Amino acid sequence: MSRIQVEGLTKRFGEVAAIDRVSLDISHGDFLVLLGPSGCGKSTLLRMIAGLIEPSGGRVLLDGRDVTFAPPRERDMAMVFQSYALYPHLTVERNIGFPLRSRRRPRAEIRQKVREVAELLDLAELLGRRPRELSGGQRQRVAVGRALVRDPGAFLMDEPLSNLDAKLRTATRGQLRALHRTLGSTIVYVTHDQVEAMTMATRVALLNAGRLEQVGTPTDVYDEPASVFVAGFLGSPAMNLIPARIESRAGRVQVLAPGVELPLWAAGDQPAREVTLGVRPEHLVLLPPASSSPASQPASQPASQPVPVPASPVFRGVVETVENLGGEEVAQCAVGGARLLARGPRPLGLRPGEPVAFDVPADRVHLFDRASGRRLVWQPASGGLPRERDHDHDSAAAAVAGAPGQVLDASTV
Ligand SMILES: Nc1ncnc2c1ncn2[C@@H]1O[C@H](COP(=O)(O)OP(=O)(O)O)[C@@H](O)[C@H]1O
Ligand SMILES: [Mg+2]
Repeated sequence: MSRIQVEGLTKRFGEVAAIDRVSLDISHGDFLVLLGPSGCGKSTLLRMIAGLIEPSGGRVLLDGRDVTFAPPRERDMAMVFQSYALYPHLTVERNIGFPLRSRRRPRAEIRQKVREVAELLDLAELLGRRPRELSGGQRQRVAVGRALVRDPGAFLMDEPLSNLDAKLRTATRGQLRALHRTLGSTIVYVTHDQVEAMTMATRVALLNAGRLEQVGTPTDVYDEPASVFVAGFLGSPAMNLIPARIESRAGRVQVLAPGVELPLWAAGDQPAREVTLGVRPEHLVLLPPASSSPASQPASQPASQPVPVPASPVFRGVVETVENLGGEEVAQCAVGGARLLARGPRPLGLRPGEPVAFDVPADRVHLFDRASGRRLVWQPASGGLPRERDHDHDSAAAAVAGAPGQVLDASTV
């Protein structure tokens, strides 16, 4: 069993807080990925969990026991580093068995355990070799084997794949995932690579400048980023983030920016608010040139129903460049003074210099408070948050309700 709780953990190096009051509850069997840009404090946090660095404040609990100042050997955790530091003069067998020999386990037990681990990691044929006779991926597996052989309650891994080339990284990612499924043990894994995080994690914890921005499943953090930082960090190309303003105009509450007109609801009032509007490149819906002008209201609309606002483009701009990615294309467009990237199957049918118009499904629109960067939700009074997936293919404009709503900080909902 290994549940790891981190409570208000802080580490200061001089004036600078490398980790600033971070709290995490890592359940037994979690594959938790600590993700963030270089220098954000990932290694510092992992090393405090391992007992290699003393915190300046806060606590670390292991299965409920306070181990904040306990030495590493009392923590039942094994660490795998980026530089896997195998003993060059020892065979694979002796490298893997090293932690057991240093604990003076009986020879037969060591032999047995090393065999098991070697089988699991597909190293059985290589036990007699020395590290220089192995490929990068094989060496990495030996390093994992050395951690595994002790049967620790938890594995702590610090960018273990970053010395491998792209193809090997993909393969090793798959092996680590399979290993996690087989062992069911707790893994805390540090990386700056969003693909590793998205593909391996059961939960992702995003760090920015020593602070925790969001913790959630890969789907949660991608679909509902809690902040502009998370929104911009995940995704390739990254989410379009456009400075905008929520305003009441002509009886509609809208998100407005040059070239951007996104209605939220069609009646009532809303104090003006500076926001950042976010839309992922793959969620923009290209409108045919004909519908760039507002469509007319259907005459047969029953009067008792909320009156839908006529569908019209949310974004209008001019195509600047189109990039061929093979299966897909990315078009860069100028919308007002902002850049908007759109991604879709090739060919998009766009040419540089031509006007372009996009819609966006209502549940794919992200709004953030401009000053704090925190996520906002908007709630039409007719019920149902747009972020609920019931309007899946409605355009943002068509999903607008006729009654007034409100814009709230996501954290208060
Ligand atoms: N021993 C140290 N002394 C002073 N500053 C440090 C030390 N270790 C790390 N730092 C600083 O703390 C911050 C976080 O570092 P680190 O945890 O290594 O980041 P990451 O692993 O996310 O790249 C960085 O600004 C780094 O320079
Ligand atoms: Mg690091």
